[in-house]
Amino acid sequence: MSHKNFYGSLERTVWQKVETRLIPVLDYFCKQGTDFDMQDVLQRHSFDTTCQFFLNYDPGSLSPDLPNVPCEKALSDALEPLFHRHIVPKSIWKVQKWLNIGNEKKLLESWKAFDDFIYPHISLEGNQGEENDVNVFASFRKAYEESDLKFSRDLTHFLRDTFLGLLFAGRDSLSISLTWFFWVISKNPWAEIKIQEEIETVLQIKRNEKWRFFSAEESHKLVYLHAALCETLRLFPPIALELKTPTEPDILPSGNYVDKGTKVILPFYSTGRMESVWGKDCLEFKPDRWILPGGRGVKHESSYKFPAFNAGPRTCPGKKMAFIQMKMVAATIIHHFQVQVVESHLVAPRDAIMLKAKHGLMVRLSRKNAL
Ligand code: HEM
Repeated sequence: MSHKNFYGSLERTVWQKVETRLIPVLDYFCKQGTDFDMQDVLQRHSFDTTCQFFLNYDPGSLSPDLPNVPCEKALSDALEPLFHRHIVPKSIWKVQKWLNIGNEKKLLESWKAFDDFIYPHISLEGNQGEENDVNVFASFRKAYEESDLKFSRDLTHFLRDTFLGLLFAGRDSLSISLTWFFWVISKNPWAEIKIQEEIETVLQIKRNEKWRFFSAEESHKLVYLHAALCETLRLFPPIALELKTPTEPDILPSGNYVDKGTKVILPFYSTGRMESVWGKDCLEFKPDRWILPGGRGVKHESSYKFPAFNAGPRTCPGKKMAFIQMKMVAATIIHHFQVQVVESHLVAPRDAIMLKAKHGLMVRLSRKNAL
């Protein structure tokens, strides 16, 4: 990620997918006047973008007919069984795994879909991105060869696991964040107006003018949009809880003793909604709490107070990448379309390892500006 071409390459990939897939599909639903699941569309967009960026392969899961791509579906199907492993005793899921029943059966089916999808795209020779692009395979291969992992696992397994991790990270956390963002914005239309004004003044794209793509560098200037995304992540962190287990007996900062092997759950969802942490207005959507006086920039909050990207040595390495992508998608959609959540549709989080909307986010679009 510190490669000089990393963000340039990301920018090109995201815009290409936004221009050739996301916008045409949204425009199709808009013209048809049909209700559709925004969460599903965003998920497919993030999946295709992440595969293109890391595997140099576009699975084409986002098109108007919403095709069934087994790996894309398996990523969703695995979320509940994974959550199950966090909350039931190990002996239970071990037996289920052995008998190949229940949630463990579902997980095994997902594993098969992951393997069938990822293995053919792992090239040990390195991926063949454009000249000057980042060669992700070569970087991971180097990391593998320089670490002790090579003594315990072969390279193809290591690459399979690494790319699977990136697919989960890239597809789900991004699409879930954007889904809640559009839901929150639909409940707070004044915030959408402010974002639109910011696009006009900072990016100099006026209403009814042709859209232009903006750079990762320019995206940093979208302070209000950044604040609105942080506020969404505070209230709806896609990874809603974190599980840690000490390998040795330890004392928590609170003074509580924890024995070796104890499961410690850190509920990020609750942390974002605690009055003692965020004040009396903790349940309100207020992007302004993230903005420095005079609109000088975005206020930094400690990751222990705002743990959506985790805290400490295992902090998410994709944070900057995530904000760039979310801003590109959110700004483009807000400029072109009015997103209206279907009134009778129930929006609630699902019991899973990631905070997905249980029944999706059913919306209807109308056009604001020409494409
Ligand atoms: C809004 C979007 C995102 C959020 C909220 C988020 C959040 C998180 C969190 C909470 C963790 C810690 C998980 C754990 O240890 O259990 C994590 C880890 C990770 N994230 Fe993200 N993430 C986001 C986007 C991304 C993106 C776009 C990438 C890059 C593809 C990425 C790559 C990773 C990786 C590789 C790890 C594992 C780090 C490690 O194990 O040390 N994330 N992320």
